[in-house]
Order: sequence, then structure tokens, then C-alpha cells
Amino acid sequence: WNYFAERVTDKDIRASADQIVASGMRDAGYIYVNIDDTWEGERDASGVLHTNAKFPDMKALADYVHSKGLKLGIYSGPGTRTCAKYPASLGHEEQDAKMYADWGIDYLKYDLCSFIPDVMEKQAPNDKAAQMRLMVAAYEKMGKALKATGRPIVYSLCQYGWDSAWEWAPALGGNLWRTTGDIEARWGSIYDILSEQAGLWSYAGPGHWNDPDMLEVGNGKLTLAENRSHFSMWAMLAAPLLAGNDLPNMKPEIKDILTNRDVIAINQDPLGHQARRIYNSGEVEVWARDLKGGAKAIAILNAGSDVYSTHPFHLDLAKLGLHGPQKAKDLWTGKEMELTNDISIELASHDILLVRIANPK
Ligand code: GLA
Repeated sequence: WNYFAERVTDKDIRASADQIVASGMRDAGYIYVNIDDTWEGERDASGVLHTNAKFPDMKALADYVHSKGLKLGIYSGPGTRTCAKYPASLGHEEQDAKMYADWGIDYLKYDLCSFIPDVMEKQAPNDKAAQMRLMVAAYEKMGKALKATGRPIVYSLCQYGWDSAWEWAPALGGNLWRTTGDIEARWGSIYDILSEQAGLWSYAGPGHWNDPDMLEVGNGKLTLAENRSHFSMWAMLAAPLLAGNDLPNMKPEIKDILTNRDVIAINQDPLGHQARRIYNSGEVEVWARDLKGGAKAIAILNAGSDVYSTHPFHLDLAKLGLHGPQKAKDLWTGKEMELTNDISIELASHDILLVRIANPK
């Protein structure tokens, strides 16, 4: 969605699947190819939703994606219309879920959008609490419908985090839930979303994740440092890593970011601990995350604007619960280094130092 938006076609999805294999992304761990919005056609007299001309045969597309060793994601919403104004699932939840399962769909993103005027504002005008109950019930309904199909389908809630989705989404089968409004391919948007995740670490864990939205790595005018920092921080957040760029035409340096195995290993660490913001020194932020086997990942991010292009920054290991010099691996250069309190780290604007400490002391 972040690159193709409503232009996406069957051909683009196939080309993306091909590229996920050819680029090494599949081997690096990417699994799902998600169509997002605008595949929908019209409902017929028996309520069956057909695809539109851009997606001539969804079952054949799912077969193709599966033949590449990947899985297919689709999109709908609890209202009458999706965000792009295509038909959504209101009143057809079980029917649609069954159809997805018959097609071989593996992932559903379910987007609130027109449910707000269609149901929430109509049935509970001026009653926020009642509106929220209607919203939660709608997500519960699709969660049950997916479960009833018997096919494992990842359930992705997209309602921008309203009513603290992280508190109730896992109980109704949600595997991930958006925590904010839509991301954009500019640093300000990425940084704002990052900041909003700081209080949510306790809600993430295996099988149920905070979703700070799909990646913008490789999109817009983001600098290499910004692309690297964005990817590093989404990895630290244990966020779903959904590439949102033009895969068949990505530059080698973007591919290198998206396939950095060490960074992906942080993201996929089995403990599933989302990083916490430990402290900041001016505009430099220090985030940390505990990893399996007692290891630790630390990210030092220069969130400062262009005006302050470099920050000499002094590390405070005690604040990270560390004692004395630490052997660490810089996950972007691949080099071993030593972290000490008096180390002077120069970070360009919006750049990051991401390290893994195998044996923290
Ligand atoms: C909303 C979602 C986006 C995308 C579009 C599709 O804006 O938040 O991620 O799915 O709808 O219309």
C-alpha cells in the first residue's frame, strides 16, 4: 500500500512475490505478501463478493504466491466500505471469511473506516463509550468468523489504536493491531509513530504485536540514515516488518537494509520483548531490548533535526544496567566494538548506532 496504493494489480503482487524470492528476502524471513485495499469488485445477489478487473482470479494468485513458498494477505473492513471506498464486510463477515479460506488466504487486515459513520455514529450518536463497544464487537465478530474457517489466518486489526486496542485485541484473536494513524514516507511521521510506541512495550509478545504500520524504507525522499534508523527501530520494537516499497525496482542499498540478517534477528528474537526507551540525552535517545540467552540489543538514535547535524554523545552504561566496558557488535558495519562510558559517538542527523551485546555484564 505504501508504494502502490490503489494502483496495485495481480501482476504487481506476483512480481513482488518473485522479487521477495530473487532478492533473498524470503530466505531472510519475509513470509507474507499483502495486497491491502482495492482488490474488491461488487457483491452479487447471493452476497458473494467478487474481485475487480485488477485481480482476475484470487485463488490462482494465492496458488502462485504459495508456489513461491510465501503466503497471501488480503484486506477488508467491518463497515460497508473500505478506506478506499470499495465494498467491505458489514453483514457478510462469515461469508467473506469462508471465501478467504477457500481461496487460500493466510492474513487479513481489517480496517475500521466506514464502520465509523455506518454503525458507530448512527447507532450510538454522541456516546463514545457505546461507539467503542460497537467497534470492539465488530472486530470480535470477524475474529470468530476467521477462527470458524479452520484455516490459520493472521488477524491484523487496523483501527489506529482506538480505545487502546493493545488491551483487548489479543483476547479476540488479534495477532497485530495498528497503534497509530497512517505512516508517511518522511522522517517526522516515522519519528512521531516511534515515539508513540514507547509506552506500549508490555503489550507485545509472541503471537500478538503492536503494529506501528508498514515500513516506508525505500520510499519518498528518506535518506539512507533515515531508512536505516526506521528499519532498526521497527526491529527493536518487535514490530511486524512489512516492506512497503517497490520491490522489483529497489536500489541495492535498500535491499541491504531490508535483508540485514542481524537486524532481522533482533526483530524475530523468540522472547518477543519490545524495546523500551531507557533515557535520552538531548535529542539522542537510547533504547534497549533483552534478547534470548541473556543478550541485549541497544539502539542509540540521533533524532535531532538537520540543524544539529552531529552530536558528540556520551554513553551512560549504568542507566542500561551494565557495568564496565562491553563487547558489542555494530549491526550495520558488522564490526566488533567496545562500548565504554567515555566512548564518544558521533551520529549524523537521524542516524543510529545499533549494537548487540552477546554477554552483557
Ligand atoms: C487506511 C489504512 C492504510 C491502508 C488504507 C487503504 O488508511 O490505515 O494502511 O490500508 O486504508 O485504503
